[in-house]
Amino acid sequence: MKKVIIGNWKMNGSHALVDALAAQITPAAELPYTGLVCPPFTLLAYARKTLPASLFVGAQDIAACEKGAFTGDVSGALLADSGATHVLIGHSERRLYHQENETTFSEKIQAALAQGLLPILCVGESHECFDKKETKSFLRAQLHFALPFLKEKAITLAYEPLWAIGTGQTPTLPMIQDVHSFLEGEFGVAPFYGGSVTIQNYQDILALGAVGGLLIGGESLFPEKFALILQGKAL
Ligand code: 13P
Repeated sequence: MKKVIIGNWKMNGSHALVDALAAQITPAAELPYTGLVCPPFTLLAYARKTLPASLFVGAQDIAACEKGAFTGDVSGALLADSGATHVLIGHSERRLYHQENETTFSEKIQAALAQGLLPILCVGESHECFDKKETKSFLRAQLHFALPFLKEKAITLAYEPLWAIGTGQTPTLPMIQDVHSFLEGEFGVAPFYGGSVTIQNYQDILALGAVGGLLIGGESLFPEKFALILQGKAL
């Protein structure tokens, strides 16, 4: 199975950025990885129309409810209608700024599955937890609610240590391998790694056996570098 490269644009991007990425990847290019771009909601349909079919398009969030009077929310049906095939759920920024919790995540996973979207559940520990060497017990507890989904292989996982997101700091390769092997052994999926992945370090991280892919924030906003990563190339 191909490893997966995901660009999470967070609250960034523009039609011009979609165009710039599309210009870097020809429709005929053979990509060594499964590529997925997660732009803001407003760019989903345009990204689907503009990017080559070899790249998937996904959302960064989904409403827990199906439809109706929920001002500002975007349902799974709307996401699917815009061409999205995947959705990030439980990103640490949703947990931090929107106080989302396990109940919400469960509902959101079910809302995604009901529309045939593949949920990517994000987990990760704080620096304090990492320092106390409690990462594995923390992750086990954080994933407890998701066991039924994991058992059915209905979701994939992304491991993003909070302290590595946007900081330029990453765990060492043996540490990443250790946590990913633990998650794979415990939950049966090789998680994607996220947190300060760059054009310089992505190949080493992706080469680790238990790393199923990469979830890339800041570096995915540079179309030339992100296109090189999607094509398995170096600078
Ligand atoms: P950075 O790659 O900017 O550290 O962000 C990681 C992330 O949060 C991806 O979801």
